[in-house]
Amino acid sequence: MDNQERIIVIDFGGQYNQLIARRVRECSVYSEVYPHTISMDEILSINPAGIIFTGGPNSAYLPESPSISRDIFELGIPILGICYGAQLMAHLLGGIVDTAPTSEYGRTEVKVERSSKLFSNVGPETIAWMSHTDYIAQTPEGFRITATTPVCPVAAMEDENRKFYATQFHPEVNHSVEGQKVIENFVYNVCGCKGEWKMSSFAEDTIAQMKEKIGDGKVLCALSGGVDSSVAAVLLSKAIGKQLTCVFVDHGLLRKNEGDEVEAVFGPEGPYDLNFIRVNAAPRFYDKLAGVKEPEQKRKIIGEEFIRVFEEEAKKIGAVDYLVQGTIYPDVIESGLGKSATIKSHHNVGGLPDYVDFKEIVEPLRLLFKDEVRAVGRELGIPEYLVSRQPFPGPGLGIRIIGDVTEEKVKIVQDADFIYREEISKAVEKWRAGEMDGRLKGSLLEADADNRKDAYPEWLPDQYFAALTNMQSVGVMGDGRTYDFAIALRAVGTSDFMTADAIHLPWEVLDIVTNRIVNEVKGVNRVMYDCTSKPPGTIEME
Ligand code: XMP
Repeated sequence: MDNQERIIVIDFGGQYNQLIARRVRECSVYSEVYPHTISMDEILSINPAGIIFTGGPNSAYLPESPSISRDIFELGIPILGICYGAQLMAHLLGGIVDTAPTSEYGRTEVKVERSSKLFSNVGPETIAWMSHTDYIAQTPEGFRITATTPVCPVAAMEDENRKFYATQFHPEVNHSVEGQKVIENFVYNVCGCKGEWKMSSFAEDTIAQMKEKIGDGKVLCALSGGVDSSVAAVLLSKAIGKQLTCVFVDHGLLRKNEGDEVEAVFGPEGPYDLNFIRVNAAPRFYDKLAGVKEPEQKRKIIGEEFIRVFEEEAKKIGAVDYLVQGTIYPDVIESGLGKSATIKSHHNVGGLPDYVDFKEIVEPLRLLFKDEVRAVGRELGIPEYLVSRQPFPGPGLGIRIIGDVTEEKVKIVQDADFIYREEISKAVEKWRAGEMDGRLKGSLLEADADNRKDAYPEWLPDQYFAALTNMQSVGVMGDGRTYDFAIALRAVGTSDFMTADAIHLPWEVLDIVTNRIVNEVKGVNRVMYDCTSKPPGTIEME
């Protein structure tokens, strides 16, 4: 290993494992996630400045639960345990972990001890995210309690001498209001990191590495038009030009006009020097999906059909040396460590096309999180509308149509979604022109007109889309009765997509969107607004 400063995250099966690494990277310290089976020798060879134990769904005191050698506490490396990680630390060091008399779930007020290095700049009472049914009933010897809640006697504990820290709450999620401060305090105050990790030279270094690795080899890339595969394709095209062929499968489940937009950027009329193949495969996907209602089955069908189409194109191209994948770090963690509970199977994760004749996979973005990928995209000069594109799921509109998918339903959801996006863009422009009230995103102040030119209003969601509910209801149009579908509008604010809140879009925007959808989209007579946060809802409806 090089001597780059790093903090490692040891995964015990929690939902938020990768978020922790991301939060550390936000402190400009490189961080990676490892499974809990990592050996002590491996840890020593990595030489981390600190170690973080993640949460997890198990009980630390059960013999079959994920654990780690007690030797980890002899390495002299600072450790922060979070949730299950905190309980495991307590259990392994001789404390008592038990079922809590009262479980805690959700936003909770926590009283913290500000003499702790972990909480020195945190308010004495702070809101943090709790999610546990076990608790630390007794701290191990040498530890003091540094935070409590009304029902949790050990919301945090520490042994400052040995540099062991633990929080029952999750500092890594946005719901913990001062969570990032806690992470920073661990990284800088406890581990003594300097924070020198930077993204700026990533693109340049990667292009040079790819050039050297690939030489005059042939490379194939499955391009979806999403941020990850677009950035990967541009990196490769800058490294090896026409030795790269991109195959774009239009599965007929894209947003309105999206296929043409992708072609305009990557096709022969676009600015990049690469071979581009667009496959219009919509009928095949609609055939396979006919009558299928179950969400996981729909995902599997779309994923498999995608692979079949790609396979056929690859056969036409013949043997290639490398296959490019736009895999990013969250995909690596999710598919590589595999211990977290499956909520949804994201079809573009870990699905290696083993039928294509190639020597090796190249994954230039493998170590980056989404916002880091966007930063590289901007450095490469990729158009902003592509770089800042909201996330769009691999199975596309297939999972935004509840129940079975038909060409007609795809058209309905495309048209409704287009209107929704168009009206939000118009509203942002209106807000920028000072014609709508609203705070500046990320600020507590009302925005004056001068401050709005390149800014965004607070109500702009991080992800928003229309979905087609499978519900038909009665309406009246003109003098006639209608019996048509209801469209659901979703708008969420999130920075990590693991948790999300429903956004309060201005009523005037919803009003226009609703009117336009019921008037312009045939087959729709009702529009509903989804007010559910995640959890308990998910962002997509399937
Ligand atoms: P959920 O619905 O799980 O979504 O709350 C979280 C984020 O992931 C996106 N998503 C997917 N992305 N393939 C993808 O590439 C998928 O199958 C998939 N399902 C959900 C979703 O749009 C949101 O940003």
